[in-house]
Amino acid sequence: MLDVEKIREDFPVLSKKVYGDLPLIWLDSAATSQKPRSMIQSIVDYYEGYNANVHRGVHALSIESTAAFEDARQKVADFINAESSECIIWTRNTTESINLVANTWAQENIKAGDEILVTAMEHHSNLVPWQKVARDKDATLRIIPITEDHSLDLSEIDSLINPRTKLVAVVHKSNSIGTVIPVKELAAKARAVGAAVLVDGAQSVPHMPVDVADIDCDFLAFSGHKMLGPTGIGVLYVKPDVLERMEPFLRGGEMVLEVSYEDASWNSLPWRFEAGTPNIAGAIGLGVAVDYLNGLGMENVRDHDVQLTKYALDAFKELEEELEIFGPKDPAARAGIISFHHPDVHPHDLGTVLDRRGIAIRTGHHCTMPLIKSLGIPATARASFYLYNTNEEVDALVDAIKEALRYFGNGVGTSG
Ligand code: ALA
Repeated sequence: MLDVEKIREDFPVLSKKVYGDLPLIWLDSAATSQKPRSMIQSIVDYYEGYNANVHRGVHALSIESTAAFEDARQKVADFINAESSECIIWTRNTTESINLVANTWAQENIKAGDEILVTAMEHHSNLVPWQKVARDKDATLRIIPITEDHSLDLSEIDSLINPRTKLVAVVHKSNSIGTVIPVKELAAKARAVGAAVLVDGAQSVPHMPVDVADIDCDFLAFSGHKMLGPTGIGVLYVKPDVLERMEPFLRGGEMVLEVSYEDASWNSLPWRFEAGTPNIAGAIGLGVAVDYLNGLGMENVRDHDVQLTKYALDAFKELEEELEIFGPKDPAARAGIISFHHPDVHPHDLGTVLDRRGIAIRTGHHCTMPLIKSLGIPATARASFYLYNTNEEVDALVDAIKEALRYFGNGVGTSG
């Protein structure tokens, strides 16, 4: 179990007051998480104490920065149980990680007539790149639909995953409705037909134990900033035998071994995929964020999410007649995210009223436009939880929604 009050002391921004003296209630961690002091300090320490480019200097500071940078890579590898740190490529974010695969592996491996399979819940970052690959290669993009209760509909999965399938690229946990996808089961089915597997772990890696060996995926993409790390640093894990056969993505400094005026050969892995000066401070900060999460234990982090989600779903029961709440009913099958919609109150209006109570949520389509449209709504209001949120904050959210609905002349309490 997490000691949330103690954890909150580690996050400076959580003691911030907004609009005068309202305590900040941060329910937007699916957009970006808040940051612990140790992570913030690691970035200050780097710039104040040993700022130097990595892999490029014989001097003391470069040796120190290179060691810290590569140490962070090892921490990330261990965190997801990767074979080695060579399988970890630093990127800017999940989107860049997925685009890297679309611009390298997919160019070599997707051919006319092949199929790429995604879910109906994909973030645009795991949909739009595959639309382009499918168009360019004359391949077909297929979609696994969702059920009435917003779980993945696996009833047709054995025809959706078939010998033409070359890639199964799936979100692990929906950012907009919270559904957790059975990625291990899908990976096993993909393996059986010789397809590769990419998992978008942007919302899962920060919130639950994720083990690439257990899932048996070829690619796992995630971002540092949703898991207590800084913005601008992301990760692409690639299985070693797949990575060895991949062509570089960006070309230039650092990713080469030998260069002549006519030609070039490539550096060893993973640096072959890291052209140019990387986000050194970002990687070091992410390593410290991983230390923080390890200190809490990812099972505990997940349990806390599930407990809060259960508490929230119970608390939302009194709003059930007013609001449509999306996602599976089982808290463990959708931990950490509550997305909702009122038929007469636009989510942006609701979000603005909550903001005036100090409560930060996200409203909109959450970069999942096709999913939101398929639900027959323009947008949702989304509260998302993390390891520093409390039941009291959930109570404050529910109270503020009731007040907002009264304000708009709808719903609970309208008639007194
Ligand atoms: N993908 C992020 C979200 O869901 C930004 O809010």
